[in-house]
Amino acid sequence: MSIKSLLPGALGFGTAPLGNMFRAIPDEEAAATVEAAWDQGIRYFDTAPFYGAGLSEIRLGDVLAQHPREEFVLSTKVGRVVLDEIEDPSARDLGEKGGLFEHGRPNRMVNDYTADATLRSIEDSLERLRTDRLDIVWVHDVAQDFYGDEWLASYESARTGAFRVLQKLREEGVIKAWGLGVNRVEPLELTLDLDEPKPDAFLLAGRYTLLDHDRALQRLLPAAAAQDVDIVVGGPYSSGILAGGTHFEYQKAPAHIVDRVERIKAVAERHGVGIKSAALQFSLAHPATAAAIPGATRPSRIAEDVTALGERIPAAFWTDLRDERLIAPDAPVPAA
Ligand SMILES: NC(=O)c1ccc[n+]([C@@H]2O[C@H](COP(=O)([O-])OP(=O)(O)OC[C@H]3O[C@@H](n4cnc5c(N)ncnc54)[C@H](OP(=O)(O)O)[C@@H]3O)[C@@H](O)[C@H]2O)c1
Repeated sequence: MSIKSLLPGALGFGTAPLGNMFRAIPDEEAAATVEAAWDQGIRYFDTAPFYGAGLSEIRLGDVLAQHPREEFVLSTKVGRVVLDEIEDPSARDLGEKGGLFEHGRPNRMVNDYTADATLRSIEDSLERLRTDRLDIVWVHDVAQDFYGDEWLASYESARTGAFRVLQKLREEGVIKAWGLGVNRVEPLELTLDLDEPKPDAFLLAGRYTLLDHDRALQRLLPAAAAQDVDIVVGGPYSSGILAGGTHFEYQKAPAHIVDRVERIKAVAERHGVGIKSAALQFSLAHPATAAAIPGATRPSRIAEDVTALGERIPAAFWTDLRDERLIAPDAPVPAA
């Protein structure tokens, strides 16, 4: 089943930053950001237990509980169970992404992709989100960036645990769709090669952006399209650098990335195009992508996202990016 029919449009809202990803965000500012998304007409919201050890889910749930449940689509994730026990968030082992969410709740999180943990995680998420159902469930981060060379062992646990449980829940109509939510293409390529279970869609973060798309373009996206497995693009601004921020891959952007962004910006300025618009529309131009879910912690960002989606971008801008080898020659670009 294509999830395009399930999603209420190409623009959703990703709430990872609301788990205090980079800074301690006041509750009022977080709530105002979700309300701004609602007021701008956004009706697809993504969250996860991992985002601040439940903080993003709690903040999102507080606002969404004020709206009729049938009016929005909600996704969260499984793979990490949030416990009542307290730990030092800055001491967590998060692979390449050390320090992420150290301003979040201090609850201990346990990586667990088994069937039992999947069901428990869903129950806990429903409670934090103040809802009785989830629409989409993603199996979270079962990839190299969090598990290093051992990632295949976590993947195998997910394949025999979470994947099967989620497929059953979808068959029973408890959820509408499931898939993986990751920052790497390899687990998705592997999943497309499985006979069973079969996911409906993938949330791929950071790997189909204006800055980084070669690998996904070669094999993953054509294979996903051939199987009707849609892609939801997470991190369309590469965690901030493509939107005017300073982060790339959730760390301070290295010099070579800053240089590349400056080159893209120079082309954008020549054509009077906003780089944020180019980034968002590029991610959505591939036929395999169903939606993009930029994140934000400030209400004003949401209006920027909506404007970015609607900006008219001349074809000559994309031609120049191609000529300057800033995008792949065969990457689809939006119609002018
Ligand atoms: N493994 C997974 O499943 C996975 C991984 C990554 C992401 N995702 C999903 O994808 C969503 C989006 O990814 P993301 O939030 O990590 O990254 P993103 O959408 O690429 O970028 C969001 C960042 O851009 C910044 N930004 C936006 N406009 C800006 C401006 N005008 N000036 C400066 N900075 C600006 C925001 O800053 P402010 O905070 O200041 O507004 C925010 O920190 C996540 O929230 C999550 O739902 C999933």
